[in-house]
Amino acid sequence: MIFDALNELVVDISPLVVVTATVGLLVFMGFLTFKSVSSDNVLSGVPELKGVPVLGAVPMYLKYGMPQLVSKLITIGNDGISYANVVTNVLVSVHDPAMVREVLAYPEEIASREGDSGYMSWSPFWTLRRLIGNSLFNYVGPETNYRRNAFIREFNSTKSNSEKFDTITKLARAHTNALTGEGSTAEVDNIRYSADIFAIALWGEILYGNPNNHVGGHVLSLSDTIIHLAGNPWSSIWYFFQLLLKLVTPGESTRSEAKIRARLAKVVERNMEKLEEYEHNNPDAPLKIIRRLSVMTGGGRTGPLSKFASEFTNLNLFGGHHSIGLNVAWSLIDLDKHPRCLAKLTAEINSVDTTHFTNVNSNMPYLDAVIMESNRLHPTVHATLRVINRETTLASSGRPIVLKPGMLVYLSFLHLHTSPTLWGPDAGEFIPERFLSGNKKHQPFMPFGYGPRSCVGYKISILAIKVYLITLLKTYKVDVKDHGHKTKVGTLLQTMKPVSVKVSRRS
Ligand code: HEM
Ligand SMILES: *[C@@H]1O[C@H](CO)[C@@H](O)[C@H](O)[C@H]1NC(C)=O
Repeated sequence: MIFDALNELVVDISPLVVVTATVGLLVFMGFLTFKSVSSDNVLSGVPELKGVPVLGAVPMYLKYGMPQLVSKLITIGNDGISYANVVTNVLVSVHDPAMVREVLAYPEEIASREGDSGYMSWSPFWTLRRLIGNSLFNYVGPETNYRRNAFIREFNSTKSNSEKFDTITKLARAHTNALTGEGSTAEVDNIRYSADIFAIALWGEILYGNPNNHVGGHVLSLSDTIIHLAGNPWSSIWYFFQLLLKLVTPGESTRSEAKIRARLAKVVERNMEKLEEYEHNNPDAPLKIIRRLSVMTGGGRTGPLSKFASEFTNLNLFGGHHSIGLNVAWSLIDLDKHPRCLAKLTAEINSVDTTHFTNVNSNMPYLDAVIMESNRLHPTVHATLRVINRETTLASSGRPIVLKPGMLVYLSFLHLHTSPTLWGPDAGEFIPERFLSGNKKHQPFMPFGYGPRSCVGYKISILAIKVYLITLLKTYKVDVKDHGHKTKVGTLLQTMKPVSVKVSRRS
């Protein structure tokens, strides 16, 4: 309680002052003993970003955020690696493509998103778990592939996506039509949220038979809250203090985190009521997807969900909406700036029958290229990280660089996608043609991650983004009002301002 209040109080005060004072106080109280971390033997020969004594880069981290701290690290690490001390811990930026692939390919014994369980970790994934519970994100262990495969069969296979196509199309029509209602034009405050709401409705429908899951905005605000807190350094800092004061045991949610979990449980409960209603009224209909995932993993055809499926109900409220909404928003922004590309895309949309799954899925190369290029410049998941669990030597670094347990390795997809060194002088320009067959090169491109823990929702996300964009552009002329949208690198890669558009119905 006291920490919640304190949290609210201090956001306006300079973080540096607060942290220095608090850490000073704790040292005084004898809670913390600092090992002196001599940079010479941490990562020899690797450029170091010098911070302040004791706290290292903490003030920078708190003042500007992790992404900005890492972008500083990238600037000084010409060889693709650099680091900064963060109190007794070390933050490493790995931003050379081969090294990034190596780190992402590490087995979980060497590196994982949270680090070894039970230890204090300032990985945002640790915060995420306290907010949504266990999910495939934190899962490590022998069942990992079994769980991944259940997702992949349901969300990353052409066959299962073809079965969802009609529902996706129906909802995209309903949601785009609703933008103007009876009228022929409308001002949309933020097209990102309109697409998010479409995605929420879509998940509600296919998982539970509840297309009204978006109504009231509860899910939207809840997922906003979770995303914000998961990427916020203060979540880790308060947690750290609560641990020190033994107010929580490692991994347990704080009171304010528990409140969010309770909100989440309410949404899930409502969805489960809808599911039971649906199953009661349609006893012979095909199973809804959450039920299918449950049955696939040992659950019954009625009654409570399997452990795996109920973990997905929570994960779904955090992932799968905003990344779809942001993808739609960035594509519209990029197309607005490049009328030539918009014209080419419109020609393609008008030349194929977009009511057929196969056409949308595999016969729209320019639409694919636009979405890929938009994901290159604006990867909504702009970075990830791994905690080192076991000492290892980076083989692709050319000279021995030893990564030690506890180090936090940050991997910036945004950098890999936009570096002129890697992509050439036109790296910053929107040129969808790079992704047309024949032009494909070997530059690093990983908007859905890489390796054994890459995204399991890739194909369904791309399909939903495509169908929404097609439907929107077929129904309306879309004018993006602000032509100068800038990126805001938060937990996700967002826009600095809402993406307001004017939509005018085509006759
Ligand atoms: C445009 C939409 C999406 C983007 C850009 C995206 C991106 C990513 C990325 C980059 C990763 C890897 C992160 C890492 O290496 O640490 C990832 C992992 C993951 N994504 Fe997605 N994602 C999207 C949609 C979805 C959807 C719709 C689902 C749900 C079906 C989903 C579920 C997951 C899960 C469960 C993982 C962790 C997999 C594992 O650890 O084995 N994602 N996503
Ligand atoms: C999902 O499908 C895409 C496209 O076929 C593929 O490149 C990707 O590796 C698949 N992801 C997983 C996790 O299977």
